Parts: sequence; structure tokens; C-alpha cells
Amino acid sequence: MDNERMDTYLASISKPLPKVLCDIEKEALADYVPIIRKSAQRYLQWMIALKQPKRILEIGTAVGFSGSLMALAAGPDCRITTIENYEKRFAVAEANFKRAGVWEQMEFLKGDAADILPTLEGTYDLIFMDASKGQYIYFWEEVKRLMASGSVLITDNVLQEGSLLDSHYAVCRRDRTIHKRMREFLASQMQDDAYVCDILPMGDGLSVCLKK
Ligand SMILES: C[S@@+](CC[C@H](N)C(=O)[O-])C[C@H]1O[C@@H](n2cnc3c(N)ncnc32)[C@H](O)[C@@H]1O
Repeated sequence: MDNERMDTYLASISKPLPKVLCDIEKEALADYVPIIRKSAQRYLQWMIALKQPKRILEIGTAVGFSGSLMALAAGPDCRITTIENYEKRFAVAEANFKRAGVWEQMEFLKGDAADILPTLEGTYDLIFMDASKGQYIYFWEEVKRLMASGSVLITDNVLQEGSLLDSHYAVCRRDRTIHKRMREFLASQMQDDAYVCDILPMGDGLSVCLKK
């Protein structure tokens, strides 16, 4: 199946995003800020409709596009904690949350997720991990502590443009560490008896993991 043709077809029959999200998306792309693709947008909206989360954790705010999308999909009773470490994006994200009318729902934590995750308390109904791929294996250990039975973890960009499936030796030397860590992360999820997980080959690959 040709992903691009599928994406074009789905885009032609999907509900448009609210205008404010279209504007934020357009500006982010124009500034080369990496944000979730259409398939991940639809999947998050679907999961939120199914799970009706009251607490969401996002690792990797960027300029607040996916955070705003999730906040609008989940409604005003849902609180979202979102973490970002790139200072240049703090003010833009805050302004975008305000534009989208979701600022009151957000707890915006500025700093490295490696430092912040151990300080978080309680559990989250939905966790969306969309930060630096090489760190997922380390975040996973902390994220497990933040999941209760029924919690869902969605992780973006796990297929690394398909290179995840290549042999370690076929991957260029520079990318080998990230390739190895991503494989370890996915295997660790898939083999953990406390979770039911799968990898969806949409966009750049989403892993979906439910705590039993
Ligand atoms: C792909 S972007 C997130 C896009 C966003 N989720 C969206 O779709 O609108 C990844 C973001 O994670 C941030 N990031 C990467 N590593 C991080 C870390 N260790 N702690 C906090 N933020 C991190 C990057 O600065 C970047 O803005």
C-alpha cells in the first residue's frame, strides 16, 4: 500500500481541523518545526474519543500543536501536562495554547524530560511521547511508573522512516546508536507481560501500548 496515496485519500474525506489548529500547523511547518502528521493527528483524536482521558502527559511540546489538538479533542475537563526543553519554543507554545483557548487546561513544564519525569506524581490516562527518539528507552522506565491499568502510551516516529527494519550493519554508523536504542525500546514494550502493545505502520510509525 502506497502511504502517500492513502494519506491523500484520507485527507480528502476527513473532517478539517479547527481553523486555529490549521494556522498553528501551517506556521510550524513554515518554520521547520517537526509536528505530528495527519495520520497521527487522526489517531490521537480517535484514541481520545475512545478513552475520554482526564489526565494526559505529553513529552515533546514543540510549539504546542499536538498539545492544543489533544486539549480540544479531550474537552475542558481534561488536564494536559506537557514537557519541552528547547527554550526558543517556550513563548511560541504558550502563545499557541492561548490562541487555541486551551491554556487553562495546560501544565507547561519547561526543562528536560529526563529530569522532569521522575518528579511527576500520580498516573495519566494517556501519554504521548514525541521527543528525541534516542531517549525513549530511558523515558520508558519512568513512564511505566506513571501508567495505571487502562493507561495508554502512544509513541511517535518509531519506524525511523523504515530504517528500523534494516539490519544494524545496513544503518550508517552515525545512526546506529539510535537504531539500537529504538529496537530495545520497542522489544521491551512488546515483551513486557504487564502491557499489550503493537506498532502501527502509519506516518512514521506509532507504537501503542496499553497497561493491562
Ligand atoms: C517532534 S517535536 C514535538 C512535536 C509536537 N508533539 C507536535 O506534534 O506538535 C519534539 C520536541 O521534543 C523536544 N524534546 C526533545 N528531547 C526532549 C527532552 N529530553 N525533554 C524535553 N523536550 C524534548 C524538542 O525540543 C522538540 O520540540
